[in-house]
Amino acid sequence: MKSDTQKSAEFWEQPEQVKRFSERTPDHRLAELIKKFHSPERKKILDVGCAGGRNTIFLLERSFDVWAVDNSGAMIRETRRRARPYLADKTAEHIRVGQMQDLSFFKNGFFDLIVALGILHLAKNENEFVTVLAELERILKVKGLLLVSNFSRGHAPKGVTPIKVRNSKYVFSGFDGGNLCLLTEKQLDKEFYKKGLEPAEKTYRVKKESEEGKRVTVNALYKKVKGLNDEGQNR
Ligand SMILES: C[S@@+](CC[C@H](N)C(=O)[O-])C[C@H]1O[C@@H](n2cnc3c(N)ncnc32)[C@H](O)[C@@H]1O
Repeated sequence: MKSDTQKSAEFWEQPEQVKRFSERTPDHRLAELIKKFHSPERKKILDVGCAGGRNTIFLLERSFDVWAVDNSGAMIRETRRRARPYLADKTAEHIRVGQMQDLSFFKNGFFDLIVALGILHLAKNENEFVTVLAELERILKVKGLLLVSNFSRGHAPKGVTPIKVRNSKYVFSGFDGGNLCLLTEKQLDKEFYKKGLEPAEKTYRVKKESEEGKRVTVNALYKKVKGLNDEGQNR
């Protein structure tokens, strides 16, 4: 039997997933947010879990200094193909295969903005989830922003009945691509707060019901208030 990690990895390698995510239009919250950014060529932005590159390309078109990471080779090949006209010989360095839980190839305080859309809920368990948040905090500048969209409690695509995994706080099984970490708005705010990130606007939940099932998302924008390492302690 395949493990959840294997199931998830294979899911994101499928050509139909690459095509689906590559054809999506850029995220409207990201489009709004970057209107406030000046001197784009001096703003370093990371698209973590970039998939087919819809947001990576949108940002490159607007001259931002863009970096992207995804653990699917197929997704990275597609994003690199689309990014090459903008990044030329920097493509392989800026767009790379990697795990969100280990971003050690980036220095502390490197990014002005991190875009984490539809990715954090893919952490396999609570430990991995908090490890990812710690990594994101580490590579974000003080006063840097982190744009998040995550599936939340009640998320149930058509034909799926999520089941909470025993002894876990956030992990649910039953989904096509493997387990998901589903947190409420409060839980998400709390986990980020512990890492030194506070809401820059009110975190909110979006629920859509259709024949595709229930899609429940939490949208958030966090700001790094100060480096935890500055004081050497967690909250
Ligand atoms: C729902 S898609 C993300 C969508 C994308 N952010 C967008 O807005 O179009 C999830 C992506 O996360 C990637 N992924 C899954 N687990 C990952 C991990 N541990 N580290 C990095 N990427 C991961 C998958 O390969 C997939 O491309």
